[in-house]
Amino acid sequence: MDVLLTGGAGYIGSHTAVVLLEAGHRVVVLDDLSNASQESLRRVEEITGRSLTFVRGDMLDQALVERVLREHGIDAVIHFAGKKAVGESTRVPLDYYSVNVAGTLSLLRAMQATDVRTIVFSSSATVYGELAVAPYLEKMPRDAFNPYGRTKEHIEDILTDVGAADDRWRIALLRYFNPVGAHPSGRIGEDPQGIPNNLVPFIAQVAVGRREKLVVFGDDYDTPDGTCVRDYLHVMDLADGHVRAMDYLADHGGVHIWNLGTGRGHSVLEVLHSFEKAVGRPIPHEVGPRRPGDIAAFWADASQALTDLGWVATKSLDEMTADHWRWQQQNPDGFAA
Ligand code: UFG
Repeated sequence: MDVLLTGGAGYIGSHTAVVLLEAGHRVVVLDDLSNASQESLRRVEEITGRSLTFVRGDMLDQALVERVLREHGIDAVIHFAGKKAVGESTRVPLDYYSVNVAGTLSLLRAMQATDVRTIVFSSSATVYGELAVAPYLEKMPRDAFNPYGRTKEHIEDILTDVGAADDRWRIALLRYFNPVGAHPSGRIGEDPQGIPNNLVPFIAQVAVGRREKLVVFGDDYDTPDGTCVRDYLHVMDLADGHVRAMDYLADHGGVHIWNLGTGRGHSVLEVLHSFEKAVGRPIPHEVGPRRPGDIAAFWADASQALTDLGWVATKSLDEMTADHWRWQQQNPDGFAA
């Protein structure tokens, strides 16, 4: 298939590009490089020995997106592009609604105009909020409680309405849990700009000497060791889930929702200790106050993805941290080096 990846130069997009190219698909990446580097795509080509097409541009440029869809004979879109920092979204919500929601509307209009009606969308476990009880099931109520999460909820609703209005659409909503790790080659990985918001990138930067110490956000939660529990999954497993979802849509119309997680939770301290094992020495850390908005513990019930897609996460926490560390150690300054 000819597949367009919006935001394909980013962390999850670049790993998915590897899996798609290795499965024999042709890949076109549309990315504005606002939070990604084109170097990631050069390395995707190096890893796979195959070439891809890169277009620098904005999803909000509907005419450009239509041209790309037509010129490359695109069969399916995997839509990663969007802003993703929870804290920032509470400060500049309009930016989040413009890029994430209006950007998706523009993309969908371009797809409709060019008769491309297959889309796999990057949603998030964050849509469940506090109403659901772990393990989260796709049918549980959604209750996102920050602007970032609400953009994901709105986009899920838009796609559901679009699918209901016209049965030619084939739509997958993938609710990611906590993606970590890197391609085992160490050539591509997560390269956050500024201070990392997320746990594993932060630990990795402490381990490589870019930051002094990890602050563990609270150890007085009602969990086995008092720190928050999340469902971390390897980015290569996540990438594989996208390709399986896209393949499923080739035979199934309608709107489908799948959780992508391992189905088991790990605490902040477990992740830290796994990372220390990978590095071979202790990583400086201290316990600080809770981070506002954090939920004590959640993880996926990913059995629907197993039933429908034959997808199951295969990689352990130790493989995630070892691969993440290999990438960080070989690229201490990310793609900028
Ligand atoms: N944590 C720390 N110290 C840090 C960073 C994180 O202790 O420096 C803790 C957090 O408190 C949390 C756990 O590590 O308990 C995981 O935090 P992350 O920020 O890595 O991930 P979250 O589960 O909070 O998920 C967040 C958003 C999601 C979003 C995801 C990926 O809530 O909506 O990041 O961007 F999808």
